[in-house]
Amino acid sequence: YLEWLGVDGVWLNPTFPSPNNDWGYDVSDYCAVHPELGTMEELDGLVAEAGERGIRILLDLVPAHTSDRHGWFLESRSSRESPRRDWYIWRDEADEQESVFGGQAWTFDERTKQYYHHRFLAQQPDLNWLNGEVHQAFDEILRFWFERGIAGFRIDVVHELVKDPPDRPNLPEIHAVLQRWRRLADTYDPQGILLGETWVLELERMAAFYGAGEDELHLAFNFPFMFAGLDSAALADIVAQTHELLPPVAWPVWALSNHDVARFPTRICDEDDERVKCALLFLLGLRGTPVLYYGDEIGMRQVEIPPERVLDVHERDGARTPMPWGDADWGDPWLPLGGNVASVAKQREEPGSVLRFCRELLALRQGREDIVSGAYASLETPAGVWAWRRGDGSVVAVNLSDDAVRAGLGGRVLLSTAGRDDPGTLGPWEGVVLDV
Ligand code: NOJ
Repeated sequence: YLEWLGVDGVWLNPTFPSPNNDWGYDVSDYCAVHPELGTMEELDGLVAEAGERGIRILLDLVPAHTSDRHGWFLESRSSRESPRRDWYIWRDEADEQESVFGGQAWTFDERTKQYYHHRFLAQQPDLNWLNGEVHQAFDEILRFWFERGIAGFRIDVVHELVKDPPDRPNLPEIHAVLQRWRRLADTYDPQGILLGETWVLELERMAAFYGAGEDELHLAFNFPFMFAGLDSAALADIVAQTHELLPPVAWPVWALSNHDVARFPTRICDEDDERVKCALLFLLGLRGTPVLYYGDEIGMRQVEIPPERVLDVHERDGARTPMPWGDADWGDPWLPLGGNVASVAKQREEPGSVLRFCRELLALRQGREDIVSGAYASLETPAGVWAWRRGDGSVVAVNLSDDAVRAGLGGRVLLSTAGRDDPGTLGPWEGVVLDV
């Protein structure tokens, strides 16, 4: 399916053994596979078979905290004299800091009568990245996976990896860790990929995680873009600023959904497939690496979860339901299927479906160097329309408004959300890719 769709990489959410207090983001062993998901052999097989199809596999590294069941933490909490005591953040007194999931960011440990720090759940104690041994332990983890053929990592909460004091990210130290990882990733051929979860709302701060351009992250998620909505002026502005702020050799990354936010077809598209196609068109038509969250390609909607089925501590289950393949028997899946979008099987057969459109768009990208790597230059357009040139010979345009607009575009239509072949006027929520 992934080969048919035309993707060239897959980021897997955490695959490590975990008590699953936070859907795998509480890791109890960084060098193994969670038995519910499979075995190490199966993961190796996946990497090899994906590789044969030109698809690279990225894992989700969770370095800011471990599970409270990780051997390191068990040792750390066993006594104040433990050699691993300082691998975590312990204090005699707690301050007022709140955790991201609510409640205090400190938990008192009865045995040793101190508080440990956790930005997320009490079951996710934060590692102390001021301790050099922690750096060494993660070097080993990165090497372990690179040597098994993993293409790279999405790196969890990298924007606040090192905290000093515990309520504040220590940016110089974070950059030093990223430089260290980049040097390590660069020793592999092909180079290991570092994709950061840089959840910051200022583009300047996001851009800083690329370092000088080739010495820190390869890719940093752009959250202002994810949250811009379907507003042509806001999107055009964020994309222009991103290009200005990134070092010239750096490469942007664009995403509209992930496992932490409501799915974009519901959040910004009113569950209207014409809008969904426009969003996919700009996501895949920009200069940079587009990241689809599973289901984006079928316009998968947010699913209502009945209270008795809730698994997540932070109301994110609605974006984590099973993929509606259509012909598979799920039995009793981990969350309800939802059934509010046409299945993959159905959309595969249906000309004009979101899935078929997304696949055509990916095929167009792959066959057209302009869309893969051509420079981005925005074009003057009437309000509501966002249009840009890619490279020498391609234009992408979307009308993100309720009115038909004469955008004054010319050229040969390569792909249209609405089957149009004259680009002079764009109907409401319509987009095109043009050969100019
Ligand atoms: C960010 C992850 O994306 C999210 O799912 C998780 O809950 C937190 N980090 C804590 O690890």
